[in-house]
Amino acid sequence: MYVVLSLGGSLINTENGIDHKFLDEVKKILDKSSHSFGIVTGGGTAARVYAQKARQINGNEFEADEAAIKATKENAKHAIDAFGKLAYSRVLENFDDARNAASASKIIVMGGTIPGITTDSDAALLAEALHAKRLVNISNVNGIYDSNPSKNPNAKKYDKLSYDELIKLASTSDSRKAGENFVFDILACKLVSRSRIETHFVSGKNLDDLKNAIEGKEHGGTVVKE
Ligand code: UTP
Repeated sequence: MYVVLSLGGSLINTENGIDHKFLDEVKKILDKSSHSFGIVTGGGTAARVYAQKARQINGNEFEADEAAIKATKENAKHAIDAFGKLAYSRVLENFDDARNAASASKIIVMGGTIPGITTDSDAALLAEALHAKRLVNISNVNGIYDSNPSKNPNAKKYDKLSYDELIKLASTSDSRKAGENFVFDILACKLVSRSRIETHFVSGKNLDDLKNAIEGKEHGGTVVKE
């Protein structure tokens, strides 16, 4: 059975460089699991830097997205290098490519695909393409809150949400100003909802939560399901 991971770029490429220790911990968890994995890596800070550079040389938003996608693919390559023989050796370019490679390796890794979306949506699409039962979103935040936890010390974390509740939260925050992005973008929310993909939100800093989410067990983050 496939589990898809949406792995936040800032967990891989930190301000101190590539976090090899984190990638190695993830490798150990995946190695011990009986599941197969489709992984989509985000772009982190590098994506924003590349996009900004593209805009400065008169690129439009399409070209800024193309530049940011390069950062997601660089992170995918870092993950592949860290996972060694467990992973298919090439960054997969699209969902067909991913489906074809999936039978050959325990882990396949891809970055972004087309401009205009984010790797959350790529992860939701990959989960659909692989018929995955579960998607685990791994970021710096340990779940979904009723308001931004980095700004509001009284923000309350949800243990469980329905798909409709998730979509409602994502649409409310979609209208907020830039820089206040909700943890999972609205398209990704709608995709996991239409296919009823169980979606777990955990922090990459809590490896026990990550392990439990991957196995579909209880954890300290947020679970979205029927
Ligand atoms: P991320 O998925 O890392 O974006 O992709 P994000 O959600 O903005 O980043 P975090 O989670 O807050 O760190 C980085 C950027 O790459 C482009 C978009 O510009 C996106 O913001 N991208 C990514 C695409 O255009 N298409 C894709 O399929 C993926």
